[in-house]
Amino acid sequence: MTPGFLGGTARLAGVIGWPVAHSRSPRLHGHWLRTYGIDGAYVPLAVAPGHLPSAIRGLAALGFRGANVTVPHKEAALALMDHLDPVAQRIGAVNTIVIGSDGRLEGRNTDGEGFMANLRDGAPDWHPGAGPAVVLGAGGAARAVLVALMDAGVAPIYLLNRTFDRAAALAAAFGGSVVAVPWEARSEWLAGAALLVNTTSLGMTGQPPLELDLSALPGDAVVTDLVYVPLETPLLAAARARGHRVVDGLGMLLHQAVPGFEAWFGVRPVVTAALREAVFS
Ligand code: ATR
Repeated sequence: MTPGFLGGTARLAGVIGWPVAHSRSPRLHGHWLRTYGIDGAYVPLAVAPGHLPSAIRGLAALGFRGANVTVPHKEAALALMDHLDPVAQRIGAVNTIVIGSDGRLEGRNTDGEGFMANLRDGAPDWHPGAGPAVVLGAGGAARAVLVALMDAGVAPIYLLNRTFDRAAALAAAFGGSVVAVPWEARSEWLAGAALLVNTTSLGMTGQPPLELDLSALPGDAVVTDLVYVPLETPLLAAARARGHRVVDGLGMLLHQAVPGFEAWFGVRPVVTAALREAVFS
């Protein structure tokens, strides 16, 4: 039986968002806290945009070990850190804050790491040298995916976005292996690809479907979608029907949480089927 209260030694962390009620992170971290028997709590923190600076400073004052940051605060949090890790700087957003015993705020971004860990978990046969990647979308999620793929050595990475200028700006910022190509020709760019990643919101419950003809995609290509509501998006269903290996987006959410939990609570947690069940049920 849980006592219904926390003692003075409990370690505290949470997720800052607006709104935050939809966040699955409290269930996720709550599952791990129970699994590892840790004296701690992970709470939803609804912070209106104008209150972000005082809320983040307040975390340190209140003795929090840190927090996750979610929509719409990930970019704004960047400027509020005392120290930024280089990956967060390149992605241009913070999703994990670690607070030192001296109260210093370290901003990290574990989304790209989570993406890669999920891909390796779900498609162990895929490797960075397997061939070109096609990435759809040029928002914040795409930035994390691009950094992860570039750092893994994937090249070229074809980037397609409805608003071409956003894709072109990202390609210019990241350079080298990221090449912006027109959204309208997306089905053709699948020829020769070893990996297809959807980072747009298309296919999410309540959003329009992603219109994409997969017939040019080589049979051994891996298809992954960052959308996880529904778990099997129409894109993943179509890819599965063609015999592709598919990787759903829930795993990225689970894996991106691992480094934060370890930093705050002192145990490196494991992503398991029971965790997926706890988070998605
Ligand atoms: P996130 O941070 O989750 O990536 P975002 O920055 O709002 O969210 O980006 C959403 C992505 O989905 C963008 O690439 C967006 O394309 P635009 O840059 O053209 O807006 C894409 N997207 C959203 N709705 C779309 C639609 N109906 N058709 C095509 N792309 C769409």
